[in-house]
Amino acid sequence: MALATALRRLSDARLRRLCGRTAAGLTAGARLPAQRSFTAGTHALRSDDKVTVHFVNRDGDKITVKGSPGDSLLDVVINEDLDFDGYGACEGTLACSTCHLIFDEDTYKKLGAVTDEELDMLDLAYGLTDTSRLGCQICLSKSLDGIMARIPESVADIRQSTDGSV
Ligand code: FES
Repeated sequence: MALATALRRLSDARLRRLCGRTAAGLTAGARLPAQRSFTAGTHALRSDDKVTVHFVNRDGDKITVKGSPGDSLLDVVINEDLDFDGYGACEGTLACSTCHLIFDEDTYKKLGAVTDEELDMLDLAYGLTDTSRLGCQICLSKSLDGIMARIPESVADIRQSTDGSV
């Protein structure tokens, strides 16, 4: 229980630093799964304020969705209920590397700086490339409109012990 609380605090601190908000301040539906709720917002973003994201899943299928500026790519996957097996297992607390995504080089250059914590976790990701990032650490902005993110063939959840427990 203490570990879960510590991870949530870490997640909040990282979100605040990366996207300028906390889990409590996320838009409805963008909250962590255990905290999801429905609200009737009166200030919904216009559709032209949204950011288009293309994902290529493990079967090679292209899935196009929209997210809001400030959302992480993990938020987009959760909000759009995308079925990427095992994706985002630690809910953005930088503890699993299952949110590993691969980008083309031009997109990669637009994603912003990589923190040491993300690099440490990326080192443990399955199928690491020179243009790999963690989806929970990438915040959408209009400049990223139309980006393409490829889901690797497999995931490595470093929290898994050899007996399969988390
Ligand atoms: S969701 Fe676990 S590191 Fe990103």
